[in-house]
Amino acid sequence: MALSQNLLFLSCLGAISTAIPTTPLLKARQFGSVSNPNDTVDVSGVPECAVANCVTSGEWIPARLGCHTGNLTRECFCQTAVAPLTCSPKAPSSEDNCFYELQTWFSGICGQNAVRIADLSAIPDCGRDCTAAMITEEDCADDSLNCICQKPEIYNKTATCLSQACSNTKVFKYLDDTPDHFAYSWYTILCQTGVQEPFNEAGYQSWINNGKWSHSLKVGLGVGLGIGSPVLICLWIIVNFTS
Ligand SMILES: *[C@@H]1O[C@H](CO)[C@@H](O)[C@H](O)[C@H]1NC(C)=O
Ligand SMILES: *[C@@H]1O[C@H](CO)[C@@H](O)[C@H](O)[C@H]1NC(C)=O
Ligand SMILES: *[C@@H]1O[C@H](CO)[C@@H](O)[C@H](O)[C@H]1NC(C)=O
Repeated sequence: MALSQNLLFLSCLGAISTAIPTTPLLKARQFGSVSNPNDTVDVSGVPECAVANCVTSGEWIPARLGCHTGNLTRECFCQTAVAPLTCSPKAPSSEDNCFYELQTWFSGICGQNAVRIADLSAIPDCGRDCTAAMITEEDCADDSLNCICQKPEIYNKTATCLSQACSNTKVFKYLDDTPDHFAYSWYTILCQTGVQEPFNEAGYQSWINNGKWSHSLKVGLGVGLGIGSPVLICLWIIVNFTS
């Protein structure tokens, strides 16, 4: 009796102590208290499947990640680097786990909030929903640049989605661009620099309104001339031929 109670107690303790370190809140606190942006990232725990491509290859040499530090500091790896996990040997997919293992390791090192996310503000309003849906279809659950930037097919699909979803708008006339070229620049700038220049929705609206105004001006001028010139001709005829 007493023995089985003790066993129960011990196994409860075991369950609690294994549960605690995986609690996200505790993890975040742990990270917050020990992290220093100048600490060197410990790459000894990188998943085996990614060691050759990410570590041995030199992909994570700070200069290659856009950093000026000598060592791979936490700040360089977690904040400056645009998409450090694009060294994953295979693009994220349901058939290969390596990227997801790497992502879990990365979150442990950098914290959940370090991941750079595509916020899609650079995409005109008409194409935002279909772009988001398409990114999800590509097995990029969290819209992270680490994932998106390993899937160049995303820009082609974005181009298709923009040309369909925005076909009833004048947005590409306003941008003086094509959906193909727009999607290509959006994707390359995002993945090379992390920059997401928001689409100027207010500027577009005012351009549209100006267009309407100048259209009515043209119509007004046309109608005015259409009525005015016969009247003038008549006057001229009357003046010249009735005297
Ligand atoms: C990190 O390093 C920089 C430059 O060496 C220094 O100015 C800064 O105080 C350091 N930050 C911390 C938190 O140690
Ligand atoms: C790089 O890290 C090593 C060991 O962590 C340290 O001894 C060295 O001073 C660091 N170098 C720089 C430039 O911070
Ligand atoms: C994107 O489409 C072009 C042709 O429209 C094709 O040549 C290219 O290979 C495609 N790229 C990707 C990554 O699918």
